Amino acid sequence: MSIPILDNDHFRLGLFSSNCSGGLAVTTIPERWSASWEDNLRLARVADETGIDFMLPIARWIGYGGDTNFHEGVLEPIPWATAILAHTERLNVFATVHTAFNHPAVVAKQLATIDQMAPGRVGVNVVAGWNQPEYVAMGADLPQDHDSRYQLAQEWIDVMNTLWSRDGRYDIKGRFWNLEGIESLPKPAVGRLPILNAGSSAQGKAYAARNADFVFTIVGGPEDGAGVVTELQANSAALGRKAGVLTPTHVVCRPTRKEAEEYLHYYAVENADWDAVDNLMRLQGLHAQSFSKELLENFRGRFAAGHGTCPLIGSPDDVADEIERFAKAGFGGITMAFVDYVGELEYFAEEVMPRLVKKGLRPEAL
Ligand SMILES: Cc1cc2nc3c(=O)[nH]c(=O)nc-3n(C[C@H](O)[C@H](O)[C@H](O)COP(=O)(O)O)c2cc1C
Repeated sequence: MSIPILDNDHFRLGLFSSNCSGGLAVTTIPERWSASWEDNLRLARVADETGIDFMLPIARWIGYGGDTNFHEGVLEPIPWATAILAHTERLNVFATVHTAFNHPAVVAKQLATIDQMAPGRVGVNVVAGWNQPEYVAMGADLPQDHDSRYQLAQEWIDVMNTLWSRDGRYDIKGRFWNLEGIESLPKPAVGRLPILNAGSSAQGKAYAARNADFVFTIVGGPEDGAGVVTELQANSAALGRKAGVLTPTHVVCRPTRKEAEEYLHYYAVENADWDAVDNLMRLQGLHAQSFSKELLENFRGRFAAGHGTCPLIGSPDDVADEIERFAKAGFGGITMAFVDYVGELEYFAEEVMPRLVKKGLRPEAL
């Protein structure tokens, strides 16, 4: 039995953060994304019908403040993924899981259970942790050094891999978890789950090289991305592994570039939730290394528009051309976020996807 997201070799398109209020747009506009279950379900159905490859949620426990308390409302990724898979036919869904807040034996069984229902269509996005106020809210300590965070994350994934592959009852003795007489059935229906990771520190990159099928990385654009792709793929290859490299984007696609730029200005300049933007950037700068110093210094606007991800702004031709540049830089795919995920995905599917087929990036019909 196959794992479609691993077996396909076209340029992959995913949707990111639709489970969070605002999506990736840190804006006060009244029509900002609500992240209700009903809207997520409508989105998943459109994604399934239009051949989007996957949906990726954010696991977030407290909002970023500001007028909107950006990311205050968040559908928890495991039940969200389960329900989306139950309502779709071919879409792949990742569950984003924090290693520090979720016992690996529980998560191993949750994910193996989902894989019974939708074989090969569920994956896991591992978060080793960075957002200190969430740790405080949870009554936990964020280890200040990256080594400890990723040692815990390594043991966490090792426990899951063992439980997914080893029969019978046994002990697993580790530094962070000491499991006596553990066993786990069911196993994943297809043997294992695709693993995604987005660490950008040296330790995060090494972790991804050891464990991930897809490495997520934030870049300034396709040009500086090419070098990053080469480095990340070389890291995996050195361990005899193969990992695809993906990057997140935010999309504003309109019939003309002028219309797209005007809409961007409306939601992300005139109506940005700047306090939330600044809180988000401050926390990223303090505890994570996903965004380089240069990105944090120069791209406040990008944080308002799309949480610091790369912009795909313009006409259908502009957007398709920019996606092609990411493919040429070696990326295996992107995630996209829209202000109105449903309506804007429908337009993207109508206008941009056929252009991607013409460019040879996507098959005719999925
Ligand atoms: C596409 C993508 C998805 C992510 N999802 C989450 C998430 O859901 N929750 C979270 O707390 N961090 C998330 N992160 C942050 C990373 O998991 C990682 O913890 C962070 O980049 C810090 O790692 P580093 O210090 O090794 O760079 C995400 C990052 C990216 C690029």
